Amino acid sequence: MSEQVDELESSELGTKEYWESSYDTEIRNYRDHGDVGEVWFDEDSQLRIIRWIEKQEDRISQDASIVDLGCGNGMMLIELAREGYSHLTGVDYSPKAIELAEAICKDQNLCISYKVVDLLNETAVHELGKFYVVHDKGTYDAISLHPEDSKKMREIYMKSVDSLLDDDGLFILTSCNWTESELVRSFEGIFELHAVVPTPTFKFGGSVGNVVTSVVFVKNKNNKTG
Ligand SMILES: C[S@@+](CC[C@H](N)C(=O)[O-])C[C@H]1O[C@@H](n2cnc3c(N)ncnc32)[C@H](O)[C@@H]1O
Repeated sequence: MSEQVDELESSELGTKEYWESSYDTEIRNYRDHGDVGEVWFDEDSQLRIIRWIEKQEDRISQDASIVDLGCGNGMMLIELAREGYSHLTGVDYSPKAIELAEAICKDQNLCISYKVVDLLNETAVHELGKFYVVHDKGTYDAISLHPEDSKKMREIYMKSVDSLLDDDGLFILTSCNWTESELVRSFEGIFELHAVVPTPTFKFGGSVGNVVTSVVFVKNKNNKTG
């Protein structure tokens, strides 16, 4: 990681306890009412990424290996499976999230591999192997809110993504906490910007901003740390 960005104020969303308790409730809601729970940053942001992936058919085949980091209820992978993608893996450090994701997947007769993995655990990450597409929606944001040394946690996360991504693979990241330029600065050195997936803009007081940012990174070929 090269250039500095200001750290975010820590929050309970940066703790495993928060997510375990949240998915505990979501599992009960799913069992009682069939409600799959929260799709973070709404279904449109998920759909925008799926449509972008589909347009890269010359690069991302339907049997390309795709991992979703911090998959939560796994709805991104469910939608990709419905679109015909077949080599799908979801990881989350919350066992309750994986339990929910596996239940939804089984009920829909889809084939997705799920694993409980802490992305800040280097050994566990290495055991996952390599993927052509690494996807993250909201998980880097959660890690950025870690109550203990968020800068260090973000650096470990970046190393994890570097280790998971094929040399010619694509890392697709959606954030609501960081702007495009902050993401580019934070990941500079390890990754470089390949594409920006357009997201809706709003205008306030004369300046234009985005509620969520979706960027696609590729490995920086000059990175010597990988
Ligand atoms: C904002 S939610 C996003 C969930 C899902 N990606 C979505 O878009 O609906 C953040 C997710 O990251 C997971 N998470 C946070 N820190 C993690 C870590 N160190 N390792 C693995 N998963 C983590 C949480 O359990 C939670 O499921």
